[in-house]
Amino acid sequence: MSGIRPTGFLHLGNYFGAIRNYIKMQDEFECYFMVADLHSLTTHPDTKELKNHVHRVLAENIACGLDPNKAAFYCQSHVHETTELYLYLNMLAYKGELEKTATFKDKVRLHPENVNAGLLTYPVLQAADIILHRAKYVPVGKDQEQHLEMARNYVNRFNHRYGEVFPEPQAFNYGGELVKVPSLDGTGKMSKSDNQMATLYLADEDDIIRKKVMKAKTDSGPTEANASKPDYIENIFLLLKLVAAPDTIEKFEADYNNCTIRYGDLKKQLAEDMVNFIAPIRSKVDAILNDKAYLKKVMEQGAEKANASAGATMKLVREAIGLNYF
Ligand code: TRP
Repeated sequence: MSGIRPTGFLHLGNYFGAIRNYIKMQDEFECYFMVADLHSLTTHPDTKELKNHVHRVLAENIACGLDPNKAAFYCQSHVHETTELYLYLNMLAYKGELEKTATFKDKVRLHPENVNAGLLTYPVLQAADIILHRAKYVPVGKDQEQHLEMARNYVNRFNHRYGEVFPEPQAFNYGGELVKVPSLDGTGKMSKSDNQMATLYLADEDDIIRKKVMKAKTDSGPTEANASKPDYIENIFLLLKLVAAPDTIEKFEADYNNCTIRYGDLKKQLAEDMVNFIAPIRSKVDAILNDKAYLKKVMEQGAEKANASAGATMKLVREAIGLNYF
């Protein structure tokens, strides 16, 4: 089970860091992937763009290969039992530990004018999302580790007080380290909030992709054979490895090692390989966004699967708590 916040456009980091895992998992597990629209209300009370963002995040994930016929792909607000479970879990969550959560403290610093209770209990809602399907594996990045730890705490408190209902959820990724997609300006990884010109979005037009790649920082080239690469050059090679053919990568590695590399050519090649990678996804996204009947069908089908799983869990939950009076 995993959740995706509907906050705008996905980038290459989202693709290689998260979506690729979902696509692999959907063939091996019973999967629930959810658009976290209720979570977005904690920080984005203005909902004018919400529908567009929800449609976009659905379309982008499907265009990348998430298959609504394999996984349950649904909107959080279409599964009402989430909010019921959230209420029960709130009784097992303590104010002190919620206030210590790193993401809460960050958001308070960023938006001191809107420190609402929903923000404080964001991790409780997330725990409800996960355990509503009694999920064991949660494909998420490092930044969500603390939220998962809290989910395990609520699971243990619930099971201890009311009897075993939930397994402990844990972070999941294939083979250890998550793929980090470096940003084009040589600092950190691609991200939504940092430098827009250093991040490649799945919605970027061909010319924008070329422009961004050509602006990537280089220097006058290596001066001795087999030198180690400075970070910003290493990053260009890392990006090339994500999208280029093996012989292309080998050629530029060899050119680097014997000091004949021309960074202009390297970046041109990277730009074309990025265009070839992103353009088909971008046009699929556009086609899906134009087919509102299809999106509706996807959401209905997802909600149906998620509601079936949620219904079964909540029956156990209400009984365990003692809310069965007949
Ligand atoms: N908090 C997650 C994020 O910021 C999104 C999310 C919501 C989520 N519910 C979830 C992730 C359940 C995993 C499982 O990206």
